[in-house]
Amino acid sequence: MHVGMIGLTGFGKTTRLRERVHSVPRLVAFDPVVTPERPRGQLDLPHRFTDGRACAAFIRARPRPRMLRVALHSADWADFSHVAAACLAAGGDMIVALDELRLLCHQKWNAGDGKGVTAFKAHPWVDWLFSESRNYGIEVFWTAQRPEQVGRICTSQSEVFEVFRVAELSDLDAIRPRFRRADFRAIPHLQKFEFVTNGD
Ligand SMILES: Nc1ncnc2c1ncn2[C@@H]1O[C@H](COP(=O)(O)OP(=O)(O)O)[C@@H](O)[C@H]1O
Ligand SMILES: [Mg+2]
Repeated sequence: MHVGMIGLTGFGKTTRLRERVHSVPRLVAFDPVVTPERPRGQLDLPHRFTDGRACAAFIRARPRPRMLRVALHSADWADFSHVAAACLAAGGDMIVALDELRLLCHQKWNAGDGKGVTAFKAHPWVDWLFSESRNYGIEVFWTAQRPEQVGRICTSQSEVFEVFRVAELSDLDAIRPRFRRADFRAIPHLQKFEFVTNGD
């Protein structure tokens, strides 16, 4: 099951993601905020593989480690194919955590009329992750401030959403039909750290 956490900055998305993933046995985590001062990143994960070589080492290791934790703090696309290979080599039952998923999506510009951005598109690796990884026992948990900032595949392939406060309900048009009307209307009035969900 793919799960998206959406809402304004500072309202609790990353914390919720951290709670969800902290005890899972197999995890690949994309944590964009890893700094020398905060090497465990926002998701507070101890192990860090920052490049494709480290992922390749994981694949080769025997016995294979139970846990693969990747904190890629630079969007180096070349690394992601290694991560995907490592996910598959680990044999499923894997959670992939993507904090600030928009950093793995790019704007598609409307070249025709020059008026600007028309949509965000997921990087091919992210596209694969959302559309195919289920077949390999991989689930994706992600966060974003607005559904428009992530590729359409990311929202259409996710079943569960946890929505914290957003500024404008129209920002949520892409996922509105997934919610009961009363729950949806409550979203602009949520306190910090409160969320509504269409899941259990
Ligand atoms: N349920 C909570 N109770 C208390 N503090 C929280 C809770 N959720 C988040 N926080 C705090 O609020 C701040 C912002 O949370 P964070 O999860 O980083 O938000 P976001 O990812 O949406 O920007 C952090 O300092 C975090 O520790
Ligand atoms: Mg955050």
